[in-house]
Amino acid sequence: MDINDVRSRFAKHFNGSKGQVYASPGRINLIGEHTDYNGGFVFPGAVEQGMVAEVKPNGTRTIRAYSIDLKDYDEFDLDDEKGPKASHFRYIFGVAREMMKLGVEVGGFDTAFAGDVPLGAGMSSSAALESCFAFAINDLFGHNKVSKMDMAKVGQATEHIYLGLNCGIMDQFASVHGKAGQLMRLDCRSGEFEYFPWAPKGYRLVLVNSCVKHELAGSPYNDRRKSCENVVAAINKKYGTKAETLRDCTWEQIEGVKGDCSEVDIRRANFVMGEKDRVLAVCEALEKGDYETVGQKMYETHNGLSKDYEVSCEELDFLNDVAKDCGVTGSRIMGGGFGGCTINLVKDKLYDKFVNTAVERFEKKYGKKPVIIPVVIGDGSRRLA
Ligand code: GLA
Repeated sequence: MDINDVRSRFAKHFNGSKGQVYASPGRINLIGEHTDYNGGFVFPGAVEQGMVAEVKPNGTRTIRAYSIDLKDYDEFDLDDEKGPKASHFRYIFGVAREMMKLGVEVGGFDTAFAGDVPLGAGMSSSAALESCFAFAINDLFGHNKVSKMDMAKVGQATEHIYLGLNCGIMDQFASVHGKAGQLMRLDCRSGEFEYFPWAPKGYRLVLVNSCVKHELAGSPYNDRRKSCENVVAAINKKYGTKAETLRDCTWEQIEGVKGDCSEVDIRRANFVMGEKDRVLAVCEALEKGDYETVGQKMYETHNGLSKDYEVSCEELDFLNDVAKDCGVTGSRIMGGGFGGCTINLVKDKLYDKFVNTAVERFEKKYGKKPVIIPVVIGDGSRRLA
């Protein structure tokens, strides 16, 4: 992101004034999909692409916001519960309101913002936006008292309450906590996490964006979550347990409630159980430098997401097949699904062949080029100037 561009647009819109500049990234996820809201493990890292915002308190109760990318401007009052209509402004409004709930004395501000996380690619452009404003508000109005994890929760609550998407914590967590060159394994039940250096020898990660726009709000994402909750409720009823999520359940218990839930719900719950184990297996393999196992688990995840969890689409399955045909070590859908990218673990020496083949074959079949995005693991939310 070009910070000078943001600076000049801000100055143009707000009478030549100058504020502070903040940045927050999007994320990739090596493995652990749809596990976060099930209390399982995820394994994300922040990317270099992100959101940049210049922010300046304006001494009123009004937020005046300009989206540079969408060339859209709006003003909305912090105390007017309705908030703005457009989702790109609702993120900002929601974050401000949720920070207020944490006791931060949020005042009005002027802001101009822009980003280079492709929209709808499954790289969490919305978490980048939320985390950027949570960080800015914490710095400008909150004396930096709100913890990183609480800022991530503010972003998540914003999705739930203001956008209607019942997402987990992974995206906002990764955006806030990211560190260059490090992936993070988060236990979504306890909130504990560890950094894992990511510098694979002889391999690299690359995203292939199908450019099928995934729009999670309004997608069957919430249904997937509901399926998991149905199975947990059936288990608690049958066994008198107090499981909060599938993390607290066993394979046997899921088997035991087969007759009480739909076949679809059971299949989805079984995927989640397997995915939780796969994250742990990948961490173990990484510690041994065993990238073949990492890759194999990625393919298993893709199959599960496609056949059992049903969050793939034809184009993503096609890209996964191309990866397999080229002998790519690991490949799978990344993020919530329903479009967006595949993430691929590719041997250096196969890289050119793979990306060229993926572009060629995809274009031939779908009449448009997919976008190749090399993965560079970058830093989390921060103040730039
Ligand atoms: C989206 C959600 C996350 C997570 C992923 C799937 O990115 O925002 O919380 O559930 O989908 O792993």
